[in-house]
Amino acid sequence: MTDLSFLSIDPATRRVSLDARDPAFYSDPNRTYAALHAACPTFYWEEQKAWFFTGYDHVNALLRDRRFGRQILHVATREDLGMPEPAAHTRHFDKAELHSLLEVEPPEHTRLRTLVNRAFVSRHVEKMTPEIAELANSLIDRFENDHETELLSTFADIIPVTMIARMIGIPEEMGPQLLKWSHDYVGMYMFKRTRADEDAADRSSKAFADYVRSVIAERRAHPRDDLLSHMIHTEHKGQYLSEDELVSTTIVLLNAGHEATVHQIGNSVRLILESGLDPAQLFSDAKATERTVEETLRIGAPVHIFQRYCLEPCEIDGVALKRGDKVSLLLAAANLDPNKFSDPLTFKPMRDEGANLSFGAGIHFCIGAAGTKHRAAAALQAPAEPEDCRPARGQGCLPLPRPGEARTYVVISAGAGV
Ligand code: HEM
Repeated sequence: MTDLSFLSIDPATRRVSLDARDPAFYSDPNRTYAALHAACPTFYWEEQKAWFFTGYDHVNALLRDRRFGRQILHVATREDLGMPEPAAHTRHFDKAELHSLLEVEPPEHTRLRTLVNRAFVSRHVEKMTPEIAELANSLIDRFENDHETELLSTFADIIPVTMIARMIGIPEEMGPQLLKWSHDYVGMYMFKRTRADEDAADRSSKAFADYVRSVIAERRAHPRDDLLSHMIHTEHKGQYLSEDELVSTTIVLLNAGHEATVHQIGNSVRLILESGLDPAQLFSDAKATERTVEETLRIGAPVHIFQRYCLEPCEIDGVALKRGDKVSLLLAAANLDPNKFSDPLTFKPMRDEGANLSFGAGIHFCIGAAGTKHRAAAALQAPAEPEDCRPARGQGCLPLPRPGEARTYVVISAGAGV
C-alpha cells in the first residue's frame, strides 16, 4: 500500500491539503494524482487557495474555453477585482511579461502570435536534428568514461539552452549567463517564492532585457538568418513587432523553451530506465521514436500547472466561479486520467489513446511543440562508442542505439532526471 500520509483529501467538501514542496509529493507526483482521480478529480487546494482540475475532459475544455483567459485587466479594473497595484520591486519582471505570448489574450495575442509564428516557421526547426545529435554525442563523450554522471547539469541543462540560443541567434558563449537569468526569472512561478526570489527575478529580467536590446540593435544593422532577425523583419498586414514585443518574445522563448525541455529530458531518461524496456526497440524507427517521446511526455509532463482567470461568471463541474477567480489546470494529472488512458501510470509507448495535454491546447498551445519533439527524439537517441554497462546499486543504465551503429551506454544516478 502506498504511503500518502502527506496528502489529505475530503471528498465530501472537495478540500485537499498538500504541501507542494514536500519531497514525498514532488519526487513522485503521479501517485498523488492517481489518488486525486480516485477520490476527488476537481478540488479546492487549501494551501494554494484555488480550485484545481485534473479530469482530462475538464482540463482540455478549459484550455479552449474563451470564458477563461491568461489576462483579466482587459475586462475589469484592479479596483473592481480588489487587486493590489503592481509591486515596484518587480517592475522589470512585469515589463518583460507585459507582451509575453503566454500572458496576453486576443486581439493582442492573435496579432503577436501570427507575427511570431511567421518568423518561427521560416526557421525549419527539424533541420536542427543533426546538430542536436552531434551536441548530445559530444556531451556524452565528456562523461562516458566516468560511468556515472549527474544528468541534468551535464546533459539536460546544456542541450536546450544551446539549441534555443542558436535558433534565436544569441552567441553560444552566453549559455551559462542565459541559464542564470532563466533560472532567476522562473523563480517567480515557484510555490512559496520569497522576497529574495522576487528581487533576483527582477534583477535578471532587467539584465536579460538590456542584453536582448543590444542584440536587437546589432541585428537591425546587420540581419542574419536567425529567428531574431526574422522576428524584426516579419510583417503582417503592415504590422511589425515593436521593440518591447521583441524583447518579451525573446525572453519567453528562451525561458519557456529551456526550462520545460530540461525537465522533459530528465523525466524521459528516468522513465525509460525505470520501464525496463529495451531502448533499441523504443527508438527502432521514426514511428517507434515518436510514440516513445509522446508517452514520456504523457506520463512525465515537465510543466504541471497552468492557470486561467475566469472572465465571466460560470459553473464548471459544480464549482461556481465569478469574474476574476483563478482556476488551475493540472496538465500532468489530466494525462493520467483513467477515463482517458488505460492503466495510466504504466509507461506503454505503443498505446494509441489520443493526445496528451503536456503542450496545452487552444490558442496558447505551445509554439515550440513540433520542434521540441524533434529535439527530444534527437537528444534521447544520441549515440556513442560501445561500452560495457555495469550499473552499480542505485544507478541505471540506458543503452541508446543508432541504427546500424554501436550501442551507447549512458550511466546515470537514479533520480537524477527528475
Ligand atoms: C517539453 C518542452 C515543452 C513543454 C512541455 C511546453 C509546454 C507548454 C505549454 C503547456 C504551453 C501552454 C501554456 C498555457 O496554455 O498557458 C506552452 C506555451 C508556449 N511555449 Fe512551450 N513547452 C515546451 C517547449 C517549448 C519550446 C522549446 C519553446 C520555444 C522555443 C516554447 C515556447 C512556448 C511559447 C512561446 C508558448 C506561449 C504560446 C502562446 O501563449 O501563444 N515551448 N508551452
